[in-house]
Amino acid sequence: MALVMGVDSSTQSCKVVVVDADTGAVVREGRAAHPDGTEVDPAAWWDALREAIVAAGGMGDVDAWSIGGQQHGMVALDAEGRVIRDALLWNDTRSADAAEALIDEFGADSLAERTGLVPVASFTITKLRWLRDAEPDNAARVAAVALPHDWLTWRLRGFGPAGESARGPVLDELVTDRSDASGTGYWSPDAWAPGVDGYDRDLFVSALGHDAVLPRVLGPAEWVTDEGGRRVAPGAGDNAGAALGVGAATGDVVVSIGTSGTVFAVSASRTVDSSGTVAGFADADGGFLPIVVTLNAARVLDAIARLLGVDHAELSDLALAAESGAGGLTLLPYFEGERTPNLPDATASLTGMTLASTTRENLARAAVEGMLAGLGAGLDALRALDVPLERALLIGGAAQSPAVQAIAPGILGLPVEVPPPGEYVALGAARQAARVAEV
Ligand code: XUL
Repeated sequence: MALVMGVDSSTQSCKVVVVDADTGAVVREGRAAHPDGTEVDPAAWWDALREAIVAAGGMGDVDAWSIGGQQHGMVALDAEGRVIRDALLWNDTRSADAAEALIDEFGADSLAERTGLVPVASFTITKLRWLRDAEPDNAARVAAVALPHDWLTWRLRGFGPAGESARGPVLDELVTDRSDASGTGYWSPDAWAPGVDGYDRDLFVSALGHDAVLPRVLGPAEWVTDEGGRRVAPGAGDNAGAALGVGAATGDVVVSIGTSGTVFAVSASRTVDSSGTVAGFADADGGFLPIVVTLNAARVLDAIARLLGVDHAELSDLALAAESGAGGLTLLPYFEGERTPNLPDATASLTGMTLASTTRENLARAAVEGMLAGLGAGLDALRALDVPLERALLIGGAAQSPAVQAIAPGILGLPVEVPPPGEYVALGAARQAARVAEV
């Protein structure tokens, strides 16, 4: 039996699956927690990765491996391969002004055309600009910039600072893949070709202030090796990894309802949306993954369940006991501001309250409908770009709610399927590993 290992280094934890490459069956699993916060020392991810590998029974018997992970985080390295400062994560908003400044300098149309993205604080390019302006001494020391999955891949292949790694600080050995490169804001999907990285160096230099090493961008079937000569697949950003893991094909839209809500579809052609609603990511299969990301998803249900003093099963029962439309009660669920639409300072509001409509059932229903409407707006944005949508695949914690499952088809305007709960990002990475495994 050939075994491969897939990893999901997510915002909250590191998950490792060891999978039978022939059947796709999960043979062993392990996980370890990551620290909270939007600014994290990458050493914590490295420790968690090794802990999760041990918990998964080690990797001594695997033939190939691949790492997927949270997107956009800025891992800045000096010439000795040391991490210069804590990584700023995708959910860190300190670079919101830098995003505005870049849009003013280059124009949203031009940036969308060049990179597929209109900058928001999540994207790596804005974090580099923030570093240049807020921490010029740190910025001046930057010799390479990696994303979380790139850096972990480099470390697990044996590279790293002298004294902490077997193969040393060889920055040119950093590799990434199209999907994660496409979330940086300085990568051009049109410029990429096998052997051509496709970075937009002008944008990179104008963000950071000088040039630096960027990870080589591997195509979906390319591989590198680890210290033991094992094949290492390119890895992926978590959304592209999930698309691969869940087996999404053209016509499928994945609606992931976790801490954040993501709506993404597999597409053969790239999208350009200068409003920034749809980010034109690449996927892990040689195609594209147009995506809408909302900040208000499962936690909308958490908040209303807490308010009603019920658990999630009871919230679902209450919602299903109400009529569609919740008697006119409407929850606009911008509890955490919002990323799409870009309303960082928005708050949630409940409208349509009458003596008749203000019931526990209607409030539960309004929470489910409001959350799904936010995701449904994401689907509409994909539709407006002619992305083919035939079926929605609901994944993430809140996808298990019977009320969400029942109400989703009407609001999303598509038939809905709910794949069994699984570590789809890690499974997608395992699939990449199986693809390159020499067996
Ligand atoms: C995508 C995004 C999130 C992170 C979460 O743009 O910011 O989905 O990848 O890990």
